Formats: sequence, C-alpha cells, structure tokens
Amino acid sequence: MKVPFLDLATQYKGIKSEVEPKVLDILDKCCFIGGKYVSDFEAEMADYLSVKHVSGCGNGTDALALGLKACGVRPGDEVITSPFSFFATAEAIASIGAIPVFVDVREEDYNIDPDKIEAAISDKTKAILPVHIFGAPADMDAITKIAKAHDLKVIEDDAQAIGSEYKGRKAGTLGDVGCFSFYPTKNLGGAGDGGMVTTDNDDIYTAVKAFKEHGSGEAGAKTLEYLEGIKAEAVTSEEATELYNPYKYFNYVIGYNSRLDAIQAAVLSVKLGHLDEYNANRAKIAAKYFDGLTDRLIRPVYSADVKPCWHQFVVRSEYKSELCAYLSENGVGNGTFYPVPLHQQKAFNDRNSRCPGSLPIAENICSQSVCLPVFPEMTDEQIGYVIDTVNRFYEGKK
Ligand SMILES: Cc1ncc(COP(=O)(O)O)c(C=O)c1O
Repeated sequence: MKVPFLDLATQYKGIKSEVEPKVLDILDKCCFIGGKYVSDFEAEMADYLSVKHVSGCGNGTDALALGLKACGVRPGDEVITSPFSFFATAEAIASIGAIPVFVDVREEDYNIDPDKIEAAISDKTKAILPVHIFGAPADMDAITKIAKAHDLKVIEDDAQAIGSEYKGRKAGTLGDVGCFSFYPTKNLGGAGDGGMVTTDNDDIYTAVKAFKEHGSGEAGAKTLEYLEGIKAEAVTSEEATELYNPYKYFNYVIGYNSRLDAIQAAVLSVKLGHLDEYNANRAKIAAKYFDGLTDRLIRPVYSADVKPCWHQFVVRSEYKSELCAYLSENGVGNGTFYPVPLHQQKAFNDRNSRCPGSLPIAENICSQSVCLPVFPEMTDEQIGYVIDTVNRFYEGKK
C-alpha cells in the first residue's frame, strides 16, 4: 500500500464544481488583481477569525515582512523569534534589515519558550515573533505579558495555524498582527502563492495596505504620518479618472508589490467553507495516531488551552533517518521538519542575527523530528497502515 504525504488532487476533486465557475468568471471578466473576489474573501476571513481587518498579500513571507514593517520595526531593531521554524520566519525579519534573535523552544510543543524570552531582550528589541509551529499555538498569555511589560509588539507567524485556537480565540487574533500563508500545502492552500495579514488595529491595517502596494495613495500618506510623524496631503479620489488612478502614482513610503490575486481569493473562498471540516478530519487522524502509535516515539504534548489545526503530525525518534528510510521503503510518505535549526542555517551569522544563549532543545528536535502523513482525505485504511508500519519498525528495535 502507498500512503502519500499529502493528497491535494483528491481534495480538489471534492471542490472542483465550486471552484471552476468562479475561476472561469475571473478569466471572462479579466479582473485579475483586486476586485470583488478579493474583498469578499477578506470579509469572509475576518468573519471566520473574528478579527477587524484582513489584508490579502502575495505570500506568507511577505505577510511577515508587511506585519513587521507595519508595527514600526526598522533596520537594526531586534525581533525575538523561534529557531525551530521554516526559514521564512527569520528571513522576513532579516529582509527588512532587522535582526532575528533566537530563543530556544519547549520540549513538549516545539514552540518558543516564554521563560527564556526575557533574558534575550535588549535595548534594541522591538517585537516578539512567535511561530505556532505545526499548527499548535504558542503560549500566548505568557508571551503577551512579557511584550506588555517591555512595550514590544507581538507578530504571530500563523503560516501553519489557520483555524487553530488558543483559549477559544483563533490564531491570528492573539498578537498585534497575524501573518498567514496560503501556500498550496497549507491547511488552507491556494492554487499558487498567497498570504494575508490580520489585525484589530486600524493604523497597522492601513500601513499593511500601504506597504503591499508601493506605499501609494491615501494609505501611504497616512502611514507616513503614523510611522514617521510626517504629514502629507494625499491626493483625493476626485482627481481620479477612468484612465488615471492618482492613488497609484503618488507614493509616500517604500513598500512592495505584494497582492493576493483574484484567482487565489476565489479558490481560498471555496476552501474556507470546508476548512473546519478539513481541520476536524486532521484532528481525528491525530487522535488515531495518539491511540495506535507505539509510545516509544516521543509525541508532542499540547496544553488544554490549545486547539491545534494539525498542519503537521511530528513525532521524535532516536532512529530518525532509519525510520524515515523504512517508511519510504514501505510506501509511507514522510518528511523531516526541520533538519536544521534557523540559527545554524548558513545564511545567518553574528552580523545579521543574534543567539544570546545555547539552543539545545531546538537542535535536538531537529535531529529527531519525523513527520507522518496527516491530510483531511486520509482513509482509515491508510491511517492504520501508517500506524502498523511505524510499530513494525519499532518491533525490530527491541
Ligand atoms: C512557519 C512558516 N512561516 C512562514 C512561511 C512562509 O510562507 P510562504 O511560503 O507563503 O511565503 C511558511 C511556509 O511556507 C511557514 O511554514
């Protein structure tokens, strides 16, 4: 039997009849950037998350950079984050000229350890950027308490956490800003790249809107004032004609071109309608894994405050490479997230990052992590086969 790591084709079959008319409508109307599909999706998402503002953007990496810039993080500022994440987390910090400062994670849930954050704060620290790794929210009460005490912003990396909850509140509503990815393999994945930023703060929202569209228009002018204290007279909508959109050609701050396109928004809108069901299926699979897998594997332990969306099911094994090879030989898709902790990535050095203490837990998790397949369309037979294959491997290790 073969169990893929992920099965996007089966998922697509289930929603094809909903997606295709919308995509064809966009192609017919040639309205590819902005427009109703994007604004509808943003409104649906705001409703789903119970957040005031949602702003679609090009991808999750940009969402982080936009969120950081909109929170006033500048070149040379330090941002405390987790070393156990996808590269983009720290890359986004470095891409705006800020310095990622790595703090070790917790053994049980692989998330940044709040008890170690305060020791890493310096007079340059501007923000904390927790990652809800594999879809399990970090300890946000402890993190926000530290942030408040030191006047720091909290930027959530929610790339893997759409639909996850912390004390009944959705990830993306727990800090000052939430940053999401719609990369196709995410729990809510588009038909290409996509991302979004969420916030309850009007100024941050305006700044995100400005930065994602070249710092132009009214949002750009307001952002110049909000972040730099410089007043600028924005051009008004009365100056617009059918052919000339003054918003586009008057620029007030340096930003990016990072928009969510209409086709992505249409696909994401359809999938959002199924997201809770997809995530519930993932939770059922995780429960079966917890029941059936040998307890010789080290499993994550999540607090009762947390409802993960099970983006990945990651266990730890002293036989990592051997187990992964065995799974592959026996047709079970698997992955190893992440093989290298961020502070050990060649791209980072002591000029563009800071590592105030040793990070043995992140390093150890990287050397042991094994990801098993968890996708909403998995059949009971497939789940049983994964469990049997892992357990059979361990029987040979008695
Ligand atoms: C934790 C984390 N942060 C950031 C990103 C970046 O998202 P994207 O690939 O959409 O740029 C990803 C995903 O790829 C991720 O898993």
